[in-house]
Amino acid sequence: MAPTTSQAVTAAASGTWRLGDLEVNRLGFGAMRLTQDGPAFAPGAAPSDRGRAIGVLRRAVELGVNHIDTAAFYFSPLRSANELINAALAPYPDDLVITTKVGPGRALSGEFLPHATPEQLRGQVEENLRQLGRDHLDVVNLRIVGTDSIAERFGALAELRREGLIRHLGLSNVRPGHLAEAQAIAPVVCVQNLYGLGATPEQEAFLRTCGEQGVAYVPFYSIAGTGREAGASGAEHPQVLAVARAHGVGAAEIRLAWTLHRGPHVLAIPGTGNPDHLAANVAAGALRLSAEDLAALDSVSGTD
Ligand SMILES: NC(=O)c1ccc[n+]([C@@H]2O[C@H](COP(=O)([O-])OP(=O)(O)OC[C@H]3O[C@@H](n4cnc5c(N)ncnc54)[C@H](OP(=O)(O)O)[C@@H]3O)[C@@H](O)[C@H]2O)c1
Repeated sequence: MAPTTSQAVTAAASGTWRLGDLEVNRLGFGAMRLTQDGPAFAPGAAPSDRGRAIGVLRRAVELGVNHIDTAAFYFSPLRSANELINAALAPYPDDLVITTKVGPGRALSGEFLPHATPEQLRGQVEENLRQLGRDHLDVVNLRIVGTDSIAERFGALAELRREGLIRHLGLSNVRPGHLAEAQAIAPVVCVQNLYGLGATPEQEAFLRTCGEQGVAYVPFYSIAGTGREAGASGAEHPQVLAVARAHGVGAAEIRLAWTLHRGPHVLAIPGTGNPDHLAANVAAGALRLSAEDLAALDSVSGTD
C-alpha cells in the first residue's frame, strides 16, 4: 500500500540515477505547466499566479526534487519558466540539476519557429544562461521535430560543451538512429521522449536500448497522455482507476509510478502548477506496484 502521509514522502524514495557525473532523484519536476493556467502554449493563455508558481518550485525542492526540466520557450504572455525558477531557487542548491532544451524556438508572439541553425542554438543556450542566471547549463537536450540528420545541430552543442557552457548533452523527440548519430559526436546522458502507459513496441524497445547503454530515459506526457499540451483530461481507464483505488492514490500517481517501474534509468518529470498535485507526484515515487498491478496496467492501450 502507498504511504498515507504523502507530505512526509520525499523524492529520495524514488531512487537515484546519474546524468553523467550529476546524481538526481528519479522523481523530478517539469516546468512547462508553471507559466499559465490551462493548456500550454495556448495563445492568450491566462498567466499563472506568480506566487503560487514560485511556491510550487520551492516546495518541490523541499520535497527532495533535484532534477527540474525547463526551456526558454516555456513562457506565456506574462510568465517565463526560467525566470520563475531563478526567482524561486537562486542561489541554487548544490545538488540541483536543471535540464533545459533547445531546438525550434518560439517567437516572442508565441508561435514555434523552425529548427535553429548552429548560430541560433548558441543564442538559445545563452538565453537560457541569462534567464537562469548561471554560467553553465547542467544538461541541454537537443529537441527535434522530424527525422532529419541531427549531426550539424548536435555538433554545434558539442562545441558549446567543449567551451564549458554546457556540462552534459541529451536529446528530445528522437528515434534510435538519432541517438546513435549523436553518440558518434559526443556523449549523450538522456533521451526525453513522449512515453507512458500504453506505449508502442517501438517506444518500449527504445526505452530498453537507452537502459542498456546507460542513457537515462525521461518520459513526458506520462500523466497527460493523449491530452498532451491540454493536460490530463477525459475519462480514466478502469484498470488505472482500480489500481489507484487499491493503493489509495489518484490515477496520475499510478501512471507516474508505472513509468518508474520500467527501469532504473527511467526518470519522471511530471508537470503541475498545483501544490497538492506536486506532493502527490513526489509520493508516487515511493509507490511499489505488484506483479498483479503491472499485469492489469499492461492491458491499457495508448489510445485509452
Ligand atoms: N521535450 C518535449 O518535447 C516536451 C514536451 C512536453 C513536455 N515536456 C516536459 O515534460 C514535462 C511533463 O510533461 P507535462 O507537464 O505536459 O505532462 P504530465 O506531467 O504528463 O501531465 C501534466 C498534466 O497532468 C496534470 N497533473 C499533474 N499531476 C497531477 C496529479 N497528481 N493529479 C492530477 N492531475 C495532475 C497537470 O495539471 P495541474 O497543473 O492541474 O496539476 C497537467 O494537466 C513538462 O512539464 C516539460 O518539462 C517536454
